[in-house]
Amino acid sequence: MEPARNFLSVYDFTESEIYELILRSVVLKEERLKSNPCLEGKKIGLIFEKSSTRTRVSFEVGIMEMGGHPIFMSSKDLQLGRGEPIKDTARVLGGYIDGAVIRTFEQERIETFAQHFGKPVINGLTDLYHPAQILTDIFTVYETKGKSKYESKYIIRDIVGNLKVVYFGDANNMANSWVSLQAALGFELVLAMPEGFDIDEKVKENAVKRGGRFTVSRDKISAAKNADVITTDVFISMGQNEEKEKIDKLKPFIIDGDVVKNAAEDVMLLHCLPVHRNEEVTEEVFERFSEIVFREAENRLHVQKAIMEQIFT
Ligand code: CP
Ligand code: NVA
Repeated sequence: MEPARNFLSVYDFTESEIYELILRSVVLKEERLKSNPCLEGKKIGLIFEKSSTRTRVSFEVGIMEMGGHPIFMSSKDLQLGRGEPIKDTARVLGGYIDGAVIRTFEQERIETFAQHFGKPVINGLTDLYHPAQILTDIFTVYETKGKSKYESKYIIRDIVGNLKVVYFGDANNMANSWVSLQAALGFELVLAMPEGFDIDEKVKENAVKRGGRFTVSRDKISAAKNADVITTDVFISMGQNEEKEKIDKLKPFIIDGDVVKNAAEDVMLLHCLPVHRNEEVTEEVFERFSEIVFREAENRLHVQKAIMEQIFT
């Protein structure tokens, strides 16, 4: 039996496949109401060890729109939440369902699940990566900045390759996801974060091995110069302690009017949501770009349908 194809990080797709996914997402978005029963008869489990609004609902709706049957399982209600090993849970569920979307803690945990499940697995966020989100983010950039929706892969590559993306804030799963996407697609990436905040060594190593390059800036205004995309995320991620000291260190890196003023004229803001207004981004800047940010949230549905076509069929 061939090993199942998983989507555990951006590196599970080639550069060319990512551009194809972007083009397919354009079509799926336009043809949302056209019948596409490619998951007919498939039971897909959604196993979540952390809270979720967007990921859970967009995957459930996407599976239903493609004719499949989603089964949501919170770890609180599973024996998993009472200490049943993840590898046993995977072996049991592998006998019932055809694929899984997992939201969990360590990346090793989703890898262990995938190894014992024997069917395809999609990462719905770990402490290390949020790959479904980052592919949606780059789709949203293309949708916003591309001149025509139906460009060729080469034109998308030109648009993406010439971007300057600046991420402000914590060195978390979203920052790591930008690092991995940069390594896969190649664009200018600056991480604006305070002293003492650095990308996970393993994430860095993995990116550098693939030719990835990013710079870290301790000065948010110079980092913002001519940025095409500015982005941030919550300062305290799920599973982390609400440390006041950490928030205080990150606060100077808030995306505010000065950041926007120094960026390119047609700069766009991305935020995976939920947002903490006036913590990582000012209310004024957030609302100024809210059309894009909520379109980014909707795009989770369309991009994940394109991902599921590749992984679950
Ligand atoms: N952006 C995102 O993954 O949101 P949820 O935590 O609501 O799924
Ligand atoms: N970094 C955040 C992203 C939430 C979508 C978290 O892990 O909680």
